[in-house]
Amino acid sequence: MRSTAWPATQTAPVDLLDRSVVPGVWARYTDLVIDRGEGSWLVTTDGQRYLDYTSGIGVTNTGHAHPRVTAAVRAQAARLLHGQQNIVYHKAGLELHARLAGLLPGGGWGAFLANSGAEAVEASVKLARVATGRPVIIAFRGGFHGRTAQTMALTSSRVTIRGDFEPLPGSVHQTPFPYCYRAPAGPHDPLDCTCDWEAQLELLFAQVVEPSRVAAILVEPIIGEGGYLIPPPGFLPRLRAITSQHGILLIADEVQTGFGRTGRFFAMEHWDVTPDIVVMAKGIASGLPLSGILASRELLDSWAPGSHGGTYGGNVVCCAAANATLDVIADEGLVENAELRGRQLRHALLPLAQRHPAVGDVRGLGCMVAIELVRADEGDGRTPDPTLAKRILAEALSRKLLLLSAGTWGQVVRIIPPLVTTEQEVDQAIAIIGESVAAALS
Ligand SMILES: Cc1ncc(COP(=O)(O)O)c(C=O)c1O
Repeated sequence: MRSTAWPATQTAPVDLLDRSVVPGVWARYTDLVIDRGEGSWLVTTDGQRYLDYTSGIGVTNTGHAHPRVTAAVRAQAARLLHGQQNIVYHKAGLELHARLAGLLPGGGWGAFLANSGAEAVEASVKLARVATGRPVIIAFRGGFHGRTAQTMALTSSRVTIRGDFEPLPGSVHQTPFPYCYRAPAGPHDPLDCTCDWEAQLELLFAQVVEPSRVAAILVEPIIGEGGYLIPPPGFLPRLRAITSQHGILLIADEVQTGFGRTGRFFAMEHWDVTPDIVVMAKGIASGLPLSGILASRELLDSWAPGSHGGTYGGNVVCCAAANATLDVIADEGLVENAELRGRQLRHALLPLAQRHPAVGDVRGLGCMVAIELVRADEGDGRTPDPTLAKRILAEALSRKLLLLSAGTWGQVVRIIPPLVTTEQEVDQAIAIIGESVAAALS
């Protein structure tokens, strides 16, 4: 049942401050009405400036309204808004396909473009099944891959995402991800990992599905919505070896981790692992709806013409925005900046875990940083504390810093600065987060 009443049908002039016109299904962090964005900042209709360390859920890696991106969008929009992929080619799309294919090592890669992250994950699954002739997809517990039927079936970050929507597409199985802070045997350093993910995967193969029936294993290199889980160093290389051994395709869902977010262009580079398929969205076009997959030309050729596609996939304006985004990421050294600013953030936030028992863990890679909140005096000291996380977000909002939550219980505060953020802005955020944690605990 909706908790808020729909407004009466509006006749002009529309009351722009009536937020109830938007349905309550959009779980909401703030009531802010935004006029414009500039770099790391959002400006409300009444002129208040907010430091946006949500990046619109990891999208605006080049900052809000980067002048080079907006100029490219404006120029393209004035020439052509829609050049449908089945009917024509366009220059922006040809350029982008070629540039994306060059992002992975070695040659022979190709790109397929769609609109949203979920659509791109669906594309990767359709491609894996057709290419291998096998039915099963294995995903990881705590992973998030989208909200369409197929991607809900692959998702297990929170029951709210999928729980009300069963039955979901089958031939999907889940296996544990190494969550070092919440390991049953106790929290431990990922460098000294004791998580039994490999034994659990082998058990899945022995009890549920033969590896020869598995088309692909889908993995977020760092689990995003599920709480910013950084795997131990051996995890992804070992997963690559296991998938190769069984002829299983490895799909890296880099929707949240790609385009420089973690201090590498793709997060898989941290572990020197090349997957068979990379899924991309979010940071790809600085906010315009574009997504895609990268795979070998050989794999892509296993799709018969017409067996996949979509009206809007690879929209020309979105492609122009993506080309400009790639230029900005390279020319402004944003991958390097993500690493530097992320290190600055983590270095300053790590002492919070020593200072406050309720801060169970501070972790991150590049500009993907998380603080996990717990009730330290309860159970084994790791009881998730979503109430505290919410209070911290509210305190930060009152100080004009926008943050998000994550994690199965909403117990994680996640910090996602745009990759253009400056040293000074990070210092400002660090001060506000410190004050907000202290205020939320008082
Ligand atoms: C890792 C990952 N995959 C897929 C998705 C789905 O993307 P979209 O919301 O664009 O469908 C998300 C969105 O947060 C994500 O973080």
